[in-house]
Amino acid sequence: SDSSLAYSVGTTLDRFIKMKQEEFPFASGELSQLLRDIALAAKIVNRETNRAGLANIGGAFGQTNVQGEEQQKLDVIANIRFTRALTKGGEVCAVVSEEDDEVIDLQNGSGKYVVAIDPLDGSSNIDVNISIGTIFSIYRRVTPIGSPIQPEDIMQPGNQQVAAGYVLYGSSTMLVYTTGHGVNGFTYEPSLGEFFLSHPNMCAPEDGKIYSVNEGSYNLFEPGLKAYIEKCKSQEYSARYIGSLVADFHRNLLKGGIYMYPATAKSPKGKLRLLYEANALSFIAEQAGGMATDGHGRILDIQPTSLHQRTPLHIGSKKMVEEVGEFLNVGK
Ligand code: AHG
Ligand code: MN
Ligand code: MN
Ligand code: MN
Repeated sequence: SDSSLAYSVGTTLDRFIKMKQEEFPFASGELSQLLRDIALAAKIVNRETNRAGLANIGGAFGQTNVQGEEQQKLDVIANIRFTRALTKGGEVCAVVSEEDDEVIDLQNGSGKYVVAIDPLDGSSNIDVNISIGTIFSIYRRVTPIGSPIQPEDIMQPGNQQVAAGYVLYGSSTMLVYTTGHGVNGFTYEPSLGEFFLSHPNMCAPEDGKIYSVNEGSYNLFEPGLKAYIEKCKSQEYSARYIGSLVADFHRNLLKGGIYMYPATAKSPKGKLRLLYEANALSFIAEQAGGMATDGHGRILDIQPTSLHQRTPLHIGSKKMVEEVGEFLNVGK
């Protein structure tokens, strides 16, 4: 049998979610519906992404987001698409997004879940036709359903995620997610409009030979990180850096490798956002047998103190993340 064809006749995302229903915490079906809402928005953003060059939706939107970044039109479009899908879906009470200054209270008295989202990851790659992504985290609200949203519903550490995932708009479009029972990946079949299970039970190689870091900032790195990078070079590892976190993470998850966005002299907390980027990918990394730290401790145990807070991120194959941690802590 030709196993490379298996997915095209195989399990759709919907069917898979139904099959795995018992794995969902509080298995009442709402979380399953929420994942389907996200998949629907992903299909819409996939369509927008594919025709961006034709539809005059490339380029800058003309405003700066709360991160101090120039928003791209697709950043704004993706944010609207995901927020709308989550609003209409009815399972979510609040959304926090990289592209919104404040928490969006959906005024949904029955919504049990809070979603944190990076609607469009890798903005700088949109106009040059390079892979981009979406990253999401799902939490259960901690205050009573129906009462006003409180900060503690939002400011949960990553270890409280009930599900997390990403969409990669790449050479093909994929949705990868975990509910804490391993990681599964689905490839989008555009002619059918369905995601099919293509990467069951994804496992990160324990060790790897790829390192991904923006080495243009080398002079700003701390000595321990420089030493680790020199070691990667002395072992002739491959340097791979797309500049879309989702794409860099996905490649390293499949092939074995480490992605680093470190603290620098200029940005002691690095660049990446804890709530929208680091937490979701760290949950997935751990569920796949990998590891994620800020160079010192586990990402998932960081108690957030502000919505848009940043964190250094070292993520990927377990042995590599452990080793860079040893280098960073030398002499401290
Ligand atoms: P976003 O497009 O959501 O703002 O995220 C950009 C992030 C991430 O995707 C990428 O890995 C990183 O920024 C690249 O930053 P540098 O250009 O500083 O390397
Ligand atoms: Mn951005
Ligand atoms: Mn991002
Ligand atoms: Mn983004």
